[in-house]
Amino acid sequence: MKTDFRTLKELHEYYAVNNKCGLKKIATQPVYEIHVPSSGIVFIGEAPGKNEDLQGKPFVGAAGKFLDKLLDGIGLTREDVYVSNTVKYRPPDNREPTDEEKLSCRVWLNAELMFIKPKILIPLGRHAFGRFVPGAMISASHGKPYEHPSGIPVFAMYHPAVALYNPNLRDVLKEDFGKLKNYLDNGGELMKNEKADNSVFSNKTKTDINDILSM
Ligand code: URA
Repeated sequence: MKTDFRTLKELHEYYAVNNKCGLKKIATQPVYEIHVPSSGIVFIGEAPGKNEDLQGKPFVGAAGKFLDKLLDGIGLTREDVYVSNTVKYRPPDNREPTDEEKLSCRVWLNAELMFIKPKILIPLGRHAFGRFVPGAMISASHGKPYEHPSGIPVFAMYHPAVALYNPNLRDVLKEDFGKLKNYLDNGGELMKNEKADNSVFSNKTKTDINDILSM
């Protein structure tokens, strides 16, 4: 994996050329952010939608507006955090990304995370969560931190888009962002992550995800 980039923009431009994602041919453009926040707080969504595809920026549509509100509720702005996606191109008709598409964007996200050096990873929804905590259900895991073999805590969250059609989950997301704030406010303990539930990691999954954030 190539990782010697001077800027995040350079990294994205390299992987935009050097990736084998089948969606590349049909999407308008790849979707990514180029600013590195000092907070180390990283959110990872599923895949871009129509607005993101047109603007080349993640979470700028309806789900993004709700994400902005959730961030505002805990005293953060989009400038304070980094937002990425499991898949960098829009799947047609907003269908879910396939395993193959997720796999072909995997090295790109790995390189991106290595560049940013996250202090906490917040997967939004089951696609991103499954990437870091394979086999766990988002419905049972949301609002809780998980240990990860990289040493970076993974805080599970529902995808903000679910709140657009399910008002109950809107409240759950607000509540979970409150839990995230509490977790971040005890930031001194962030990397120790003593309370994290690591029971989902069997030896097998540890081997499978060992490459995340590693060469
Ligand atoms: N949903 C996502 O998962 N990512 C985006 O960028 C926008 C909507």
